[in-house]
Amino acid sequence: MIETTRLIIRPLKTDDETDIQSIFDHPRFYYLDAEYAANNAAKFLRKYIELHNEDASRGTVLLALAAVLKSTNTVIGCFSLGNDHLLSRLSEYGAEVTGFLHPHFWGKKFPQEVLDTCLTAYAQKFGVKNFYGTADPTNKSSIAVMRRFGFQKAESITNPLEIKLYGSPREVYVTHL
Ligand SMILES: CC(C)(COP(=O)(O)OP(=O)(O)OC[C@H]1O[C@@H](n2cnc3c(N)ncnc32)[C@H](O)[C@@H]1OP(=O)(O)O)[C@@H](O)C(=O)NCCC(=O)NCCS
Repeated sequence: MIETTRLIIRPLKTDDETDIQSIFDHPRFYYLDAEYAANNAAKFLRKYIELHNEDASRGTVLLALAAVLKSTNTVIGCFSLGNDHLLSRLSEYGAEVTGFLHPHFWGKKFPQEVLDTCLTAYAQKFGVKNFYGTADPTNKSSIAVMRRFGFQKAESITNPLEIKLYGSPREVYVTHL
């Protein structure tokens, strides 16, 4: 568990279903992995709780984390850190960082709070210094968050089969701690 100014960051739990479903049900919300789970929070949680693994000797490390707002004790977003690579060749860039927030909490600099603490903690715990994130080029806020944190563009995915995996064009951004 990690505590930031406004958040508790801890592994996702089955009990988070109601909070996550209210994020998925928001009319402005879109996230590829939510769509892959048919915007069903229980299905999304089953997948990520199963993938969560902090022990490298037991397999691929992946942290599936909930961002809990301290003031209300509700889950306002999810972040994952690790190697659930949709496109396996991207592992050459390091560990993947991805996530989402409830639209009500957009524009309040929560991603910076999460990245500042979680990337450093992950790097220290697992000895990984390279991270990458992917974004649709039209996803301005995701790209702004990554750029502000120091991520730089590494490539635009151009292979049609790879684009199909993401359902839209994709850019890859990388950073090194
Ligand atoms: C990506 C996401 C987590 C960002 O959260 P957020 O709360 O909006 O992030 P912040 O408030 O820290 O920053 C948003 C930045 O985007 C910028 N931004 C927002 N809309 C923009 C637009 N249309 N054009 C340019 N910049 C834009 C803001 O100005 C801000 O940049 P700044 O801090 O440099 O001024 C959130 O939008 C989200 O959950 N989206 C849905 C899921 C998703 O797309 N996840 C990323 C998967 S790749």
